Amino acid sequence: MNTDRDRTGEGPGNTGTDRYTQPHPHPPQPQPPSPKSAVYTAIWDFEARDGQELSFKAGDMFEIVNDFGDWWSARKIDSFGRVTTGFVPFNYLARAESIEYQPWFFGKMSRFEALSHLMFAGNDNGSFLVRISETDSTGFAISVKTQDKAKHFKIYQSDGRFYVDPSPTFASVLEVVEYYQTHPFSSSDQLKRPCIRKKPRPENLPPSTVDEWEVPKEQLSLEKLLGSGHFAEVYSGTWKNHTKVAIKILKNNDALKQKDFQLEVQIMKRLRHRHLISLFAVCSSSAPFYIITELIEKGDLLNFLRSQEGMALDMESLIDMAAQVADGMVYLEAHNSIHRDLAARNVLVGEGNVCKIGDFGLARVIKEPVYICDDKKIPYKWTAPEAIGLGRYSTKSDVWSFGILLYEIVTHGAVPYPGVHNAGVYDLVTKKHYRMPSPASCPQIIYNIMRSCWRAEPEDRPTFKVLKNELNNYQDSVCNYSGKPHS
Ligand SMILES: Nc1ncnc2c1ncn2[C@@H]1O[C@H](COP(=O)(O)OP(=O)(O)O)[C@@H](O)[C@H]1O
Ligand SMILES: [Mg+2]
Repeated sequence: MNTDRDRTGEGPGNTGTDRYTQPHPHPPQPQPPSPKSAVYTAIWDFEARDGQELSFKAGDMFEIVNDFGDWWSARKIDSFGRVTTGFVPFNYLARAESIEYQPWFFGKMSRFEALSHLMFAGNDNGSFLVRISETDSTGFAISVKTQDKAKHFKIYQSDGRFYVDPSPTFASVLEVVEYYQTHPFSSSDQLKRPCIRKKPRPENLPPSTVDEWEVPKEQLSLEKLLGSGHFAEVYSGTWKNHTKVAIKILKNNDALKQKDFQLEVQIMKRLRHRHLISLFAVCSSSAPFYIITELIEKGDLLNFLRSQEGMALDMESLIDMAAQVADGMVYLEAHNSIHRDLAARNVLVGEGNVCKIGDFGLARVIKEPVYICDDKKIPYKWTAPEAIGLGRYSTKSDVWSFGILLYEIVTHGAVPYPGVHNAGVYDLVTKKHYRMPSPASCPQIIYNIMRSCWRAEPEDRPTFKVLKNELNNYQDSVCNYSGKPHS
């Protein structure tokens, strides 16, 4: 049985909202601190920018009242035992008395992000970090810089012991690291210094006023045009003179009802994931409507893939990016949210080469009505045949688009179906059952994944969960964890 299909099954004309699961209550009510994870310490100084935020110094201790989202509600306890309460940016804190407090612990991170941290100026051979792999099965890994590359060592866990090589074993990750600081993995791979950590810039922090979703346009200043699609122009800008944001100004939205827009925004607000663009606020009291999101400085994946930096990426890094997108799509899939326009132009590349899916959430109220009236605007080369022909958008039509996105990634941003006219693709795919051949240098396993996304019957296509696992398995099989320590 296929559980991923569009719940409504009625195509673009439908106005129902039951394609989304009942959202979780948001924001959650303040909870009493959990005894397990309550005490945190500041890694850097922070200056409050308004009355709700707390100023603090590196080393200050906090009791966390509510750890939802980017701004945590916290009680600061100073050395005199005085308590102040307010919002603190979560990425300025680390758990006290745990490996998260260690300078080399970088949390959940893919290989590719680890590489980008290790290549940051100031790191030398032997700079290292410990991360939790994004591959569910892998757990902890050590990444160490060696001759302008990164090597990755998996930390295995069994029977409460931690080890890189079956012997010796240790009681904790901390002990593993301490051991390999004095016993090199090989002559060139010694853990020397913790990787330099970049302090997040205050102007890049998301706004802390979490309840303020509708904001006046006067609070925004537009700076540079970043991109323009069929539906919007996107500018970089500043909100309240202190927070850098992306401002998406919707085009031709006269027909868009404020109520429909608000409904859709309610859903977008609750979709929060490391690989999805975060929505900050909207301006919907007058046309044109604005959507305010986090600003992603490196811009979209398509341009990134075609840039010098993108052209230099090896297959391992490319597939890592695809796995990150799949991870974000697993989340959307789990929330029964259909993207409808998954493509490299709608994925953004952030700091540390973190990929974030953008341009989601409004497709049903903005894009589908336009596709009906003006079929030239349908992104034929990315859209599943049943979505073009019958208006049947589903998670499985997103999976089709993901296959095309994978093609774009592997080819460093080539246009799919080269030489074929946009609208011609539909007949080619449905009547002639044509599928693109494997791009040159594309590993067979990755091409097989693409082909599974392009199966004619939506229910025969894999889920995003399966795709993510397949991409991670590929990573694990080709990028073997290196090195065996000298005994
Ligand atoms: N948050 C962002 N940060 C940086 N660039 C962005 C951001 N959002 C969009 N862009 C740029 O603007 C382009 C169009 O944005 P998008 O949201 O896809 O609009 P449309 O709905 O018109 O397709 C993207 O391809 C990208 O280059
Ligand atoms: Mg777009």
